[in-house]
Amino acid sequence: MSDLKGIILAGGLGKRLGPLTKITNKHLLPIYDRPMIYYPLETLVEAGIKDILIVTGGQHAGEFLRLLGNGHAFGLKHINYTYQEGEGGIAEALGLARYFAEGQKCVVILGDNIFETNLKPYVDNFKRQKSGARVLLKRVPDPERFGVAQLNGRKILNIQEKPKKPASDLVVTGVYMYDREVFNIIDTLKPSHRGELEITDVNNAYIQKNGLEYDILKGWWTDSGTFDSLLRANQLVAKKKHEIRSTKHETNSKLK
Ligand code: DAU
Repeated sequence: MSDLKGIILAGGLGKRLGPLTKITNKHLLPIYDRPMIYYPLETLVEAGIKDILIVTGGQHAGEFLRLLGNGHAFGLKHINYTYQEGEGGIAEALGLARYFAEGQKCVVILGDNIFETNLKPYVDNFKRQKSGARVLLKRVPDPERFGVAQLNGRKILNIQEKPKKPASDLVVTGVYMYDREVFNIIDTLKPSHRGELEITDVNNAYIQKNGLEYDILKGWWTDSGTFDSLLRANQLVAKKKHEIRSTKHETNSKLK
């Protein structure tokens, strides 16, 4: 089995965070002690993915190269980069990864999504999956901000993008695992009412073919694309890092 390809989507213009994003890219803003883009990159690397493409855009795309280079700080030999013009949607950004994916299965992560735990168990489930796609679902108090899944046992019946009246509190987080078929599906998409090619339409196309599986994510998860979620991301990461530091401190004191 060939290794999975990893794709980080860090395009778009981050307008919801203006004026913070007037002179920099949203994914370079700080989350506690690191730039936002570090977190999805680390998440992919921790899940065992080494061949990674970053899709970025806007006026500050060159800063990603300056910041990350070839990814040596993350234990990588090389990082691939590509450029999205404008903000035609998450599925449009993913479409730019077609040549990089070379017909292999891929794990896609949104550049503003931050996960507490290692995603390797879920990625391993996807590796065992013969075909189709896999998403990670999480219960949240504000489902209307996300893609909302309606379930019937192990089956996802449909996903609605930011519904006014959510059918459940289970939302689709920003990690998507796809087989090679994803690029053919993207070719069939039409822009939504907000003028974007929607990732939710891609996932619903897999549902139509009975090809969308899911896991329920353990640990906390947040996006960071609004002022409130950016603040929440900072608080969650700071708390986690303080906990890790105090556990290390306790262990060291016991060893002395
Ligand atoms: O965070 C999970 C949610 O992300 C899902 O539950 C939703 O179904 C999904 O549509 C998405 O919702 P948002 O509206 O919050 O996505 P947003 O437009 O903020 O984009 C998230 C990331 O995707 C962004 O940080 C960079 C990337 N992106 C987005 C757009 C619009 C691109 O690379 N290119 C784009 O054109």
